[in-house]
Amino acid sequence: MHVFGVIVWLGGLMFQSAIAAPVAQAEGEIAKAALRKMSSRFIGFIWMSVWTVAVTGVLMMLLNPQFEWFRYHNTWSKLLGFKQLIFLLMIFYAFGYARMLSYLNTPVSNGGFDEKAVLYRHRLNQFRKISIALGIVALLLAAGM
Ligand code: HEM
Repeated sequence: MHVFGVIVWLGGLMFQSAIAAPVAQAEGEIAKAALRKMSSRFIGFIWMSVWTVAVTGVLMMLLNPQFEWFRYHNTWSKLLGFKQLIFLLMIFYAFGYARMLSYLNTPVSNGGFDEKAVLYRHRLNQFRKISIALGIVALLLAAGM
């Protein structure tokens, strides 16, 4: 379940970044608006993944003999500690991502090209790429555990 949560989260962001966004960029405004709607719908899956990864992660952590209450004294717990920090960072970016998307899907920003909407469109791509990079680092830390 833990790995499944990670696959849905990272897989969805990668699909949006590498497949959907470039196609929508080339296809014009209607496709871009459709992508924003799809990205908004995916937000629910991000939160489901966040909870799945968090709950299963804590369970596995508590059941692992290498875990001593917040003592990062061996490689396993140090890697886990860094992974937890990255996880919190990814949640921070997910909140920002969800907030910007909900603004961009309001009629005001969607119709016109107000300054904030232009900035948010640019930031959305940035936040997606940063989240993917953080997720890959967390995967590498997990492989080292
Ligand atoms: C985006 C963040 C995360 C990613 C990408 C991630 C990824 C993974 C992966 C791929 C594994 C399986 C490793 C294996 O089977 O060899 C794993 C195991 C594990 N993860 Fe995570 N995880 C994340 C967040 C967390 C969090 C937040 C916690 C704790 C609160 C956690 C605790 C654990 C534990 C305890 C294991 C088992 C390690 C072991 O068997 O020795 N993970 N994680």
